[in-house]
Amino acid sequence: MRPRSLIAREYSPADLERIANAFLVGNGRVGYKGTREEHGKEERSVFSLIGTYDQREDKWREPINLFDPLPFRVETALGTIPGREALHREFRLDMRHGILYRKDVYEDIEVRTERFCPYGGGLHLLQKIEVRARKETKVLLSSFLTTDIHEINGPHFPEKSLSFLEDGSVLASGITNEGRKVEVILHEEGNHERRPFLEKERAGYLYEAALRQGERILLRKIGEARIDGEIEEEAPLSYEEARRRHLFSFERAFEEARAILPRKGELQKGIDHAVYSLLILGNHRKATSIPARGLSGQVYKGAIFWDTEMFLLPFFLLTDQEAARLLVQYRINTLPGAIRKAREFGFEGAFYAWESQEDGVEGCSLYNVTDPKTGEPIRTYFADCQIHISIDVLHGLMEYVRATGDLGILDEGGKEVLREVVRFYKSRASLKEDGLFHFRGVIGPDEYHELVDDNAYTNAMVRFEIEDAVSYLRKKGYGGIPEEDLKGWLRFARRIHVPKPGKDGFIEQFDGYFALEDVKYREFRKRIEDPKEYLGGKEGKATPTRVIKQADVVALLALHPERYSPEVLKRNLRFYEPYTEGGSSLSNSMYGLLSAWCGELGKAVRYMRESALTDIRGGKKLFAGGIYIGGSHPAAMGGAYLDLARGLLGARIKEGKVRFSPRLPEGMRGMRYRYKEGGVPKERKF
Ligand code: BGC
Repeated sequence: MRPRSLIAREYSPADLERIANAFLVGNGRVGYKGTREEHGKEERSVFSLIGTYDQREDKWREPINLFDPLPFRVETALGTIPGREALHREFRLDMRHGILYRKDVYEDIEVRTERFCPYGGGLHLLQKIEVRARKETKVLLSSFLTTDIHEINGPHFPEKSLSFLEDGSVLASGITNEGRKVEVILHEEGNHERRPFLEKERAGYLYEAALRQGERILLRKIGEARIDGEIEEEAPLSYEEARRRHLFSFERAFEEARAILPRKGELQKGIDHAVYSLLILGNHRKATSIPARGLSGQVYKGAIFWDTEMFLLPFFLLTDQEAARLLVQYRINTLPGAIRKAREFGFEGAFYAWESQEDGVEGCSLYNVTDPKTGEPIRTYFADCQIHISIDVLHGLMEYVRATGDLGILDEGGKEVLREVVRFYKSRASLKEDGLFHFRGVIGPDEYHELVDDNAYTNAMVRFEIEDAVSYLRKKGYGGIPEEDLKGWLRFARRIHVPKPGKDGFIEQFDGYFALEDVKYREFRKRIEDPKEYLGGKEGKATPTRVIKQADVVALLALHPERYSPEVLKRNLRFYEPYTEGGSSLSNSMYGLLSAWCGELGKAVRYMRESALTDIRGGKKLFAGGIYIGGSHPAAMGGAYLDLARGLLGARIKEGKVRFSPRLPEGMRGMRYRYKEGGVPKERKF
């Protein structure tokens, strides 16, 4: 069965935010939001780039957006685009081939565009524009490269300029506040005479033609970016050749990573979209990892969170281990940054950045949200106290090693990550009278309750992950870490206090959680006055209550079900569900995974569906306090995939071999699942 395209027809302005995220194109290095090219920055269009950041004065440091090579304008006797209302409008994302098509029909003309970033390629963005006459008309089409771009905490280019190169290409060039040289070159060819134009912040070509009905102006554009003069890969010479190659290689990657359900419908569409969204984030070029908002630009400072290890890595381990290795490599490369951060906070070892940028720079500010009413910054403790990040990094590294059997990565910096992470927790722990280690003043995944003691997720993960790592390394006879050290790690891990289930089976999320006001989210919701209100932190309404932002204990149980009895898994799933807001798109998939372990398959499918449809449906929070947090949700896509592969199919990869223990609900029986084993594409029918 061929996947349907994602289509949006006759959309209204209210749909644009959703379309921008769901219809994004990209290749793991660069991307372009699903916005209307002719509207440019007013619709937050971005030609995004992963991994190059800049800070303006004391504003937040964020990735730069590239100069935009896609905008155009069309003038006819009936008016100018943008500015005219189309009779029909359509976006169509061909998820199988990784290409976006647009069509707008006006009374006298039809405007079509297509765009894509070549799969596996460098910093390239290609676009075709076609203006076809529906009746005889004069057309003036201008296509240009602009330096007037959308930026959240910019301007990032105090110096910028536009010029024409000898071969007629247009060059936009700028120097960032941090001194990086950024260039975008636009190569363009058309089927009509053209004349160059250069005006403030725009340079390009004008095409003027008197068209008879059915005749058209056709442009093919290749946008190429260079950072500090580096050519990551030569720009393609021919648009059509690059297009052919892209369609071929994207289709192959997509087909080899698909899950084909017995029935068409929303769930299939969601899973296809999840696979599409993950494929456009994988790259084989640079260890830049994947920001929480993927390729949608500067939101969340373009930073890498625990999302990568816990939610995204499983997809790449099952479909593209080369890309998976780069994700792990990123954490190895950023170890010095993590060591620096630990020192700054007065600890030893590696304290990874909560919002990690290149070199492991901490992007998370101490005032990470603002009060929407007063505009006052609110002190948050994500950077200083959300310490589970380091153990999540260790988990990711070990998942990769266990899945691939690639012990070599440990000798290439991996073992230092293990060592420094353990050292960090040792120095961060406090030894109490009970003779056990405790972690005080932390933030768990929930985030709304800050500076709590003994968060179950944090404590248990530190203990379990160290134990599992040591046991694997011993089993493999890995000699890179002396046995004495491993023993020391285990001695530490076994003395970490892990909150146990009470008589009723419930695990307390942190010390004192059960004593908080017992109000369920459904009831609590009525107290929210402003949808932008921040519910956590010192003044937040959720703080004195049991209401939590997202899966916390549930995430722990979903990741380590074998450590708990089935009864405990079930009881906690039921207990925490009504208190959970689901304010983070990460939440659903952890609930889905735990539901699968509990044999509650209908529920598992519902959560998985919610997660998979996150960007297609839209409607997620756009603000945390006063801060814009819109954009795509890669972790929800990865989470949906995790629910499917790990939860419902029971996929486990051990040293290159994939084993399944399916628990499929009736309605999904007969599904075909495609994955890779040792790099070889496989299909299994269930
Ligand atoms: C969530 C974090 C997550 C981050 C990036 C926040 O809203 O609470 O768990 O890592 O978004 O996705």
